[in-house]
Amino acid sequence: MSKYLVTSALPYANGAIHFGHVVGAYLPADVYVRTLRRLGEEVHFICGTDEHGVAITIGADKEGVGYPEYVARWRAEIEATFASFGIEFDLFSGTSTCPRHAEFSLEFFTRLRDGGYLEKQTSEQLHCEKCELFLADRYVLGGCPECGHESARGDECPACGSWLDPLKLVSPTCRVCGEEPERRETTHFFLDLPKLRDEAVGEWFNGKEWKPNVDAFVRQLLEDVHSRPITRDMRWGVELPSELVDGEEGKVLYVWFDAPIGYISMTAEWTAAQGDPDGWRRWWQDPETRLVHFIGKDNIPFHTLVFPSMLHGVGEDEEGRRFVLPWRVPANEFYNLEGGKFSTSEGRTIPPTEFFERYDAEVARFHLISSMPETSDSEWRWQEFQATANAGLADTIGNLVTRVLRFLDKHFDGVVPEIDEAHLERLEGLLLKECGEIGDPAAHIQEFRFRKGAEQLLANAAVANVFIDRTAPWKLRKTDPVEAASVLGACCHYLAWIAHWMTPFMPKKAQALWEMLGQAGEVAELPWPGTPTQETWRLLRPGQGFGEIAGLFDKLDDEQIQEETEKLKASAPAG
Ligand code: MF3
Ligand code: ZN
Repeated sequence: MSKYLVTSALPYANGAIHFGHVVGAYLPADVYVRTLRRLGEEVHFICGTDEHGVAITIGADKEGVGYPEYVARWRAEIEATFASFGIEFDLFSGTSTCPRHAEFSLEFFTRLRDGGYLEKQTSEQLHCEKCELFLADRYVLGGCPECGHESARGDECPACGSWLDPLKLVSPTCRVCGEEPERRETTHFFLDLPKLRDEAVGEWFNGKEWKPNVDAFVRQLLEDVHSRPITRDMRWGVELPSELVDGEEGKVLYVWFDAPIGYISMTAEWTAAQGDPDGWRRWWQDPETRLVHFIGKDNIPFHTLVFPSMLHGVGEDEEGRRFVLPWRVPANEFYNLEGGKFSTSEGRTIPPTEFFERYDAEVARFHLISSMPETSDSEWRWQEFQATANAGLADTIGNLVTRVLRFLDKHFDGVVPEIDEAHLERLEGLLLKECGEIGDPAAHIQEFRFRKGAEQLLANAAVANVFIDRTAPWKLRKTDPVEAASVLGACCHYLAWIAHWMTPFMPKKAQALWEMLGQAGEVAELPWPGTPTQETWRLLRPGQGFGEIAGLFDKLDDEQIQEETEKLKASAPAG
């Protein structure tokens, strides 16, 4: 057994979460965590909002509301969206209110400085004369020097994911007033990434297996890494007391420095709530911990280079404790919407509240996982959603369930039938071998192959459909009722397996099926059954009655789907 510390990227508290975010960093993490828990692993799952930095101040200033009020509002909204998707963190906090966040962040700063990994540099920065503001990060827009995209932000390019130096932007402009900025000198603290790379992080990176999309990206980054400033001239953020920075005033930590430390401070908030303020160390300073960061593409450099550098650079404390470095960083690529980008501002989106009024969140979970951008960009297509809902879930699983249970209800007293000894061996052979290969979805999920895991669930359900077609209990009932009962008994046991396998993807549907099968308690609290074998495949007690039998999945009709695609076309052109 291992101990897993699972994080999802802390979303900026400055806007709504859309499906692209959900499928990138949150839903797969939730599915992963549910799977590990069922496998008996110890897991801690943490998230919260990223509440500092320019992404916040620009948004709040535009609306004329105070920063704390602004982030609190978005945090509540974001948390509600996650809840509608059934994504359940152990704790969802926020970096501006998490009790020990500033303390941890300043400790990181101090220890990195004491370790010789921070250098003070006076350098030129873009400064807007009109706004009297240093244009940190997103305060400046311009052309991306890497890919040519026209509106890259000062910190990163939304098109190619490059991490940028604002001074290199082509034709920069001030985001607030649109003027062209000038260069002006200011003093900042720089994190010596080349030194950290050479000392440990390069080797750490090379010694690990990465997803191909991460590997190629970071390998290049490592070749060409520079020191980066980790302080800012701003009023919102983790404030640096002037005695920590040689008397400099008005400095805060760069948001990308303090945000990942949020994973630690939020863990501490959670363990403190459990009555163990020091308990965070069990997670962060135990070499056995498997630290897993779920992120989207644009967060790769920070989780594979910057944060690991920080974790390494703080070194050992007085008691010889060090932080663990990430074990896996399952980063996803971009998720689009019907051939274009998700864009909340242009109305090219699927507003979660409206969506959940019309569609089942669990079906959406399953479709998102089935189409997630695991190794390359992918997209939400309404017709594919319909296909998953109808041909996938309703026909393959839903129909099977109602077919079997209603038939038993009508002709076999509504109980799990006994399997007659005379038929046992043949039926066992058919179901477990001849009707198709039965693989364990959890095995794929553990390896971060989520799409494969979802496919596996449907493939396993298809095995039962083949079994029924081959055995035809509907006909058998008239010629050999004992054999018919045996076949249907086998189906009941197999439906229990399907309920188990559904739990990480669709926990509520899984439980509904479990109860339909007349089972008490929570299926998700049982140990994971793996795949059926001759010894284990009969999960239910013969003679056991059923719960109320109802359809598990509703079908989506063509008109409804057409309406959605038309709505989207009307909102804005793809692009
Ligand atoms: N807020 C960032 C974004 O939305 C992600 C921060 S992840 C963390 O891109 F590691 F810094 F927390
Ligand atoms: Zn300006």
